[in-house]
Amino acid sequence: MVSSLVGQFVCIVFFMVVSISRVRAKQTVFDVTKNGGVADGKTDNSKAFTDAWTQACQTNGGGVILFPTGKYLVRPVILKGECKGPIGLQIEGTLLAPPGVQSSVDMDHWIKFQHVDNLDINGGGLLDGQGPSAWHHNNCLEDPECKRLPANLRFDFVTNLNIDHITSINSKNLHINLFACQDVKVTNVNISAPAESPNTDGIHIGSSSNVQILDSVIATGDDCISFSAGSSKINVSGVHCGPGHGMSIGSLGRGNNNNVSFVDIRNCSFVGTDNGVRIKTWAPSKQGTVSHVYVENIRMDRVKNPIVIDQNYCPARRCSPTESSQIQIVDVKMINIWGTSSTPNVVTLKCSETKPCQKIQLRDINLSYEGPDGPAVSACSKVDVITGGKQNPPACTKPVIQVPHNFDVLN
Ligand SMILES: *[C@@H]1O[C@H](CO)[C@@H](O)[C@H](O)[C@H]1NC(C)=O
Ligand SMILES: *[C@@H]1O[C@H](CO)[C@@H](O)[C@H](O)[C@H]1NC(C)=O
Ligand SMILES: *[C@@H]1O[C@H](CO)[C@@H](O)[C@H](O)[C@H]1NC(C)=O
Ligand SMILES: *[C@@H]1O[C@H](CO)[C@@H](O)[C@H](O)[C@H]1NC(C)=O
Ligand SMILES: *[C@@H]1O[C@H](CO)[C@@H](O)[C@H](O)[C@H]1NC(C)=O
Repeated sequence: MVSSLVGQFVCIVFFMVVSISRVRAKQTVFDVTKNGGVADGKTDNSKAFTDAWTQACQTNGGGVILFPTGKYLVRPVILKGECKGPIGLQIEGTLLAPPGVQSSVDMDHWIKFQHVDNLDINGGGLLDGQGPSAWHHNNCLEDPECKRLPANLRFDFVTNLNIDHITSINSKNLHINLFACQDVKVTNVNISAPAESPNTDGIHIGSSSNVQILDSVIATGDDCISFSAGSSKINVSGVHCGPGHGMSIGSLGRGNNNNVSFVDIRNCSFVGTDNGVRIKTWAPSKQGTVSHVYVENIRMDRVKNPIVIDQNYCPARRCSPTESSQIQIVDVKMINIWGTSSTPNVVTLKCSETKPCQKIQLRDINLSYEGPDGPAVSACSKVDVITGGKQNPPACTKPVIQVPHNFDVLN
């Protein structure tokens, strides 16, 4: 009797969970609290998590791993495919990373997924990287060989990934890293870390294609979204950035693949960021191409440097000011970008001496600066600019004397 009631209850909960999550119908739910997990914020739930993962992964038709409301301490985990069906990770509670740093190991991740196809992460819950306990260990400004701190979420070779309604706060390092992923959709994500937190990029994309990032809010101490080598077919819209360093393509030129193409950024806003949209390449550099970048309908609010191309990117002054970048930047459209800048450097396009930028279009640019260092300046060097529509300030009236410098390091 009791067991059949329990059975019915479990059954009802099961169907509720499935209908709420809308992950995929009729998937088995693996609730971590029924697999040894304890939501007390102290017990280590990494084994309960990996056990639930293994069970879901080995179930024909896949399964959903559920973290119900509550606080779960989770030590670093790697969750691997391939799985026998689609996997859902439904986080309704809060996952807490362990505080501090693992002193002996170079741990690049908190939660890492590898070689998974069909993964949905959702549930409205929170990932708390507990960064404040570790950020002071970041010495990458002084030491280029510095040990990496863990990223909240890493995805390596993941395909058909959906991340929806998740909050990620205070990662010790980047929040979401995509490496060699395809067919990714990130929606309604809230990423947040303080403006002064080191290297806490929102979403870093590398060697990945067909990625959409929509309707999200990203406030960090580093790049909002960065598109690094091998990024292609990336669409971003409805993203609000700030504080942080803005959206960046690059840095490019030091790896083996230095190409980025088909990046589409629309309907986004930047508030109080260091940059708006920026392309940065090292000098000297290897060969590569940045092409088909389309940026449209962007609001800037007190952004230090709203539009930047910097082909002499040299944040830590460990590069040559006389050698030039070998990255060809071609076909970049910046259309309908308006608002305010907190410095006079509203447009700065500094291209390579040996590979000048080609077909850079500026159309309907309206960026104002009101302050003691005015007027607003649009400065360009070694660039073939096509202008259209209104230009406030007038486009490319001066050569670039110096690219505004930002203290973002190693990325
Ligand atoms: C994002 O998350 C932070 C931290 O939990 C919160 O303070 C902020 O209000 C959230 N923003 C939105 C738009 O939900
Ligand atoms: C991404 O943007 C391009 C335009 O650059 C568009 O053709 C494509 O349909 C968009 N992709 C998605 C999935 O929205
Ligand atoms: C980079 O792009 C160039 C020019 O489009 C192409 O020749 C080269 O093969 C690409 N490299 C990689 C690694 O995709
Ligand atoms: C951007 O906003 C415009 C105007 O609101 C809308 O028509 C368009 O569909 C939006 N584009 C994207 C990619 O969200
Ligand atoms: C440019 O923006 C200012 C406000 O920042 C606005 O008053 C002005 O009408 C805009 N000009 C055009 C041509 O859109």
